[in-house]
This record gives sequence, C-alpha cells and structure tokens, in this order.
Amino acid sequence: MAGRIPRAFIDELLARTDIVEVISSRVQLKKAGREWKANCPFHGEKTPSFTVSQAKQFYHCFGCGVHGTALTFLMEHDRLGFPEAVEELAGRAGLEVPHEGGAAADPRDRLQDDLFALTAAVDQHFRDALRDSERAKEYLKGRGLVGETAARYHLGYAPPGWDGLLKVFGATEAGRHALATAGFIIERNPDQQKSTGPGYYDRFRDRIMFPIRDSRGRVVGFGGRVIDTGEPKYLNSPETPLFHKGRELYGLYEARQQLRTIPRLLVVEGYMDVVRLAQAGIHYAVATLGTATTPEHLNRMLRVTGDIVFSFDGDRAGRQAAWRALETCLPEAKQGRQLKFLFLPDGHDPDTLVAEEGREAFEARLDTALPLSEYLVTHLAAETDLNHVDGRARLGELARPLVARIPEGIYRELLIERLAREVRMPAPRLAQLLALGDTEPPPRAATSNARGPGRSASSGRGSMISQAIARVLQYPATAAVIEEPEALRASGDRGLEVLAELIEMAQSDPHLSPAQLVERWRDRPEHARLEELAAWPLPELEPSAIGRELQGAVARLVSGAGPERRLDELIARAETAGLDDDEKRELRDLQAQRRPPPRPGG
Ligand code: GTP
Ligand code: MN
Repeated sequence: MAGRIPRAFIDELLARTDIVEVISSRVQLKKAGREWKANCPFHGEKTPSFTVSQAKQFYHCFGCGVHGTALTFLMEHDRLGFPEAVEELAGRAGLEVPHEGGAAADPRDRLQDDLFALTAAVDQHFRDALRDSERAKEYLKGRGLVGETAARYHLGYAPPGWDGLLKVFGATEAGRHALATAGFIIERNPDQQKSTGPGYYDRFRDRIMFPIRDSRGRVVGFGGRVIDTGEPKYLNSPETPLFHKGRELYGLYEARQQLRTIPRLLVVEGYMDVVRLAQAGIHYAVATLGTATTPEHLNRMLRVTGDIVFSFDGDRAGRQAAWRALETCLPEAKQGRQLKFLFLPDGHDPDTLVAEEGREAFEARLDTALPLSEYLVTHLAAETDLNHVDGRARLGELARPLVARIPEGIYRELLIERLAREVRMPAPRLAQLLALGDTEPPPRAATSNARGPGRSASSGRGSMISQAIARVLQYPATAAVIEEPEALRASGDRGLEVLAELIEMAQSDPHLSPAQLVERWRDRPEHARLEELAAWPLPELEPSAIGRELQGAVARLVSGAGPERRLDELIARAETAGLDDDEKRELRDLQAQRRPPPRPGG
C-alpha cells in the first residue's frame, strides 16, 4: 500500500492549483464580478447559481448547497476518490505525489521506478546519438525542424545495429530483463538463436525517436520513424507496464509545459504533426499513437479542456476515422463543451499545411471546424433522401442509436431540434420517431453525491462560533489580529477548540487560502461542517473590518462562553425544531444581555 499523502504536499498542490481552471475545463464558467458562475453541474437549472471564488479557491451552489475545494469538486464531479483527485491535480501541476513511508516498500512501485529510470536513460542515449548523427540531423532539418523544437520534444535517434541498447544497458541479466520489459529489445526465437547466438536484439534501429511522456514528464514509451523509406514507417513501443497505447496522448505533456492554461486541444494523427505545429507556435496539439481516439483518450482530454478539435485528412480513410471519433464523443457531448471536427484538404496533413501557410491561416481553419451536432446532422442528411417519406424515416433509423448515446439534457434537445429542422418535422414528432420519449432534462434533483437542499447555511444568522469560524476560514489572513487564541480552549467547548486551532493554523502561515485551510481538516470529523462554513455567504467587508469583527467575537466567546453557548443552542433550535415559550423568553433575555456585535454599514 502506498503511504499517506503528506499534508504539506496538499498545501503545495492547492497553492499551485487554480480552482477556476480546474472547474472551467469541465463546466463553462462566466465571469460575474469577482467570482465565476455557471449552471450547476450537480443539479439541473437554467439560471446559474453555481459560484466559484478564485480568492477563496472554493465553489458553492446556492441552489443545491454543494460546496468545496478543487479536490472536493473532482471527487464529486469526476467521482474520484481522494487519492485519485490528488493525482489528477498533481498531474495538472506537473507534481509527483509523495507518500509517507510506504511507497518505496511496494515491490510494484519499485519495479516501476526502475523502468522509469531505464526509459529516462534510453531517452538520453537516443538524444546523444542524434547529436552525433549527421544523417539523422539532416533528415530532421529536411523536414523543417529546428534544434530548439527537437530539444523541446526530446527527439532522438536510434542508430543502425542490432545491439545498440543491449551493449549499453544489457550487460547483466537484470539489465536485459528490464530492457525486454520496457519493450526495447526483442527475444530471438530459438531457431535464430542457434545460428546467431542466444539472446535478444534491439527493437528500434536507424529511426528517429519520439519519446512519449506521461503527465509528469516521465518517458513511458517511444515512437520511431524510419529515415526516408522503409516498413513499417512508424514503430511504437509495445504494451508494457508503463505504456498503454490506448491511453497515451503524444504531446500533452509538452503542451502543459508550454502553456499555463490549455484553452483547447487539437487532435492530430501523427507525431510529426504535433512537433511541427508546436514549432509554428501551436502548442496545443496532441496525437493518438496510430490508433483511433479511445474513450480513455477523450476523458483525459476533457479533464484538460472542454474545447477539442479533431482533425482528419480529407480522404476516405480520414472521413471514416472522423465518424468513428464522433461515435466515441457522443456520450461526452453536452452543453458547455465544444467537440469539433476539421477536415483538411486532400493530400495534406497539419505538418505540411502549417509549414505552407503558417500559424494564423492554420488557426483560422480551426475556427471553421464543424461542431459535433453539425457534423452528425449533415452526415446523416447526406445519406438519406429527405424529399421522401422513406428517406426521412431512414434518417430517423440512422439517428436513433446515435442520439440515444448522447446524455439526456439540453444538448440533446437542441440537437433533436436541429435534426428536426433538417427533416422539416416538428421536434416532438421527431423525438417520438427516435423513440427517445420525453426529452425534458431530468427534474431538479440534486445528484446523489451532492448535498441536498435545505442544508444551505444561508438562512438565519447562525451561531456566533460558526460565524467566527466562517470568518477565519474565508479570510485566514485576518486571524493575525487574535492575540491569544489559546484562551478559547479554557471552556473545553469543542466548537471553541476548533476555532482556536483554525486561528493558530491561519496565523502560522499568513498566505494560506481558505481551500488549503479546509483541506487540512479532510480526515477529521469536523471537515464537512468546515467546508460548509467556508462556503457561507458573509457580508462583503474590508479585511480590517472582518478582523475587528473577529476580534470582538473572540473576546465575547472567551469571556462569556457559558451564556453564549446557551444562546447559540437556542438560536440553532429556533431555526430548526422551534422553541417552547420558556425557551423563547430565555432567548430574549440572553439577547438583551448581549451587546450586539458591530454590523456592517451601521
Ligand atoms: P510523416 O510521414 O513522418 O509525416 O508521418 P505522418 O505523421 O504524416 O504519418 P501518417 O499520416 O502516415 O501516420 C499518422 C500516424 O499513424 C503516425 O504518426 C503514427 O503514429 C501512425 N503510423 C503511421 N504509419 C504507421 C506504421 O507503419 N505503423 C504504426 N504502428 N503506426 C503508424
Ligand atoms: Mn505527415
């Protein structure tokens, strides 16, 4: 088992994360004053009540009450466990997740580490060989690549010869075993062994080498291109413990290195396309490795951005590939995402096009890409004769299985409307024909992992302790004004202890964000409540005014812990179960005794 993730790492991870970026790659956010808004992804709604605060690194939905940090969002939205959510953010930030104790002790992890050490060494070996080979350098120059691009993508060269890597890394049995496991050498079959001696031979020979790096920049495999002509033109690493062709995207790591935020991704077919586009200043291209886009590829991309353009050759094979990509995209088609399809002129690929016409003209092409819905509708319409009833019925037939794979919701509704216009038929009639039944979005129910309505903390003034805690959580820097948080502990009241601890945490690091502060409580019983309080709407005040409020509240809580506590209890009960007459009287008395705290604006 991997050990615990150290708290300091979570702090650093959140410091390097922007919740607005994380959420906006999944939900379309609009700027609204200092905050960002969207239709809540956790419940159906038509006016946005989902709010993301960049300052607090926190989100909150006033409609259904969900709230939390970037980590909570990933856990609830992507349905990840906590460690996976941490991995996800770490991948974005280019950090490796450390584990206390554990990690090195796991033999599987150690094997992985050894393989990564080997792939890194082989990567360097190929790069050195490129430096030493005029032939390989000439080839790349002939393809229009400059040294800087080659360096950025770690391009290398596997020289001719059957034992280049074997000689360097395969001196021992363990070395050969590692080379074989990582896919660099191939075992000769027994017949060959008799004639040419025992053992193995190098997989990559006389090829330009493209290392494929994972989200943390570790080399997981290679693609190798023949110089000039030969078969196969491209040779990839086989499936290994590190390399899974169906999930790797060539160029994604380099894109992340180059761009702070990746506004969109362009999916191309080849290694050379990615590299050549980057050289032209288009850093957001990625390639699948000679395979169709898999759902896993798509999910990885959607975690980066909701804006994806797939590009294809204009020939028949390209069109077939595009349609397959569309089918893969259907389950992910929803509002707020832009999945588009770009067809290139016959005989061209992005490499040749961008070389010929440059970045601006090429990017202008991207803007003309067909949206998924448009591509789907025009493709189907082209296959049927809409002037005949038969043709329209056939379109219904063709569309049904496709539309059924699109999640229910606004996007699907709009698509059906668009399709209905195309076949000149009322949308409800077409929906019927498609036998999809009611196309209304699901009722306004909170999703299972969203906290239901009614727990929204916005009603009532809440208890004084909660108010104070909310202030410390949302404005940690203001905690600096509290001189003796320790005094809050005297009464032994748990709420006050939590407040004291929060103040101390905030004081120990004045740059702590609300999100970082809340995450420190992730494993403790108070976490859910603190997350809720971090999302509490507080009056907008200057930090100095918040500090004064906090100071006043702490002073009253320290001096009057007894009556304050009773007051809190009564107020809480008044808001929930209600009070009997005696209690109401007691509450009035207590309130009369208490000097009201300064209120904002008067
Ligand atoms: P260049 O000829 O170098 O410009 O390559 P390209 O990227 O234009 O190649 P092409 O369009 O022929 O192929 C696109 C992608 O398909 C390549 O980048 C490879 O990932 C893959 N591919 C092409 N040929 C082969 C092959 O022979 N074997 C394998 N496994 N993959 C190939
Ligand atoms: Mn090409």
